[in-house]
Amino acid sequence: MTKEAKIYGNWEDLPASAGGTISHSRMETDSRQLAEYWRRCSLSSDFWARYTALSSPEFSVGRPVRRDAVESTLSYLLNELFENTAKFSGGPVAAVVYESWLFPDRMAFQVTNHIEPARRDGFVQLIEELLGNDPDELYFKRLEENAETDQKGSGLGYLTLMKDYKVRFGFRFTPVAEGSIAVDVQAHIHVKEI
Ligand SMILES: Nc1ncnc2c1ncn2[C@@H]1O[C@H](COP(=O)(O)OP(=O)(O)OP(=O)(O)O)[C@@H](O)[C@H]1O
Ligand SMILES: [Mg+2]
Repeated sequence: MTKEAKIYGNWEDLPASAGGTISHSRMETDSRQLAEYWRRCSLSSDFWARYTALSSPEFSVGRPVRRDAVESTLSYLLNELFENTAKFSGGPVAAVVYESWLFPDRMAFQVTNHIEPARRDGFVQLIEELLGNDPDELYFKRLEENAETDQKGSGLGYLTLMKDYKVRFGFRFTPVAEGSIAVDVQAHIHVKEI
């Protein structure tokens, strides 16, 4: 198997330090812990949403940015990212990393988890469908499909964020060890969309 990383969508190589940003944060946790104590997903999301929203006065988009609006948007966005790491991690590596970068007019969030190699192709197919279609059309197509079938996940998480908040997603797959692929999901959001 190739050891090269593959990227899709709005991927950006973000700095490992805070240079040039309003702030940079990082947290490491564990997908099994998140899955076993499910409320840790919402707790982590709410914590980082509130923590991040305190920087709202530093945003610069030509108008004041309401802190409570930033907090509620991020709480929703981050919960989706954390829950996905809890639901879909697999293989021998359980590490989950959360990182955020705040810029004057935009924010970038990245979560990393690991999957079994056999899961990659299905996920990539889904990503290509997500990136290659109009979010509004795909959303309603999925709604209809979900009404007809009885799937586990609704598959509307990323799509809803794209549709309602113009979130742009980037994905990276890196084979890290035998039986394990690191998945990095990036979510980019413009402050003006809040
Ligand atoms: N972090 C991840 N690691 C591995 N697979 C993922 C990850 N995030 C998403 N996926 C895959 O992409 C699919 C779409 O994710 P999405 O969040 O849009 O929907 P969902 O989680 O299935 O449903 P919902 O979010 O509506 O409850 C998932 O069903 C899963 O197969
Ligand atoms: Mg989801």
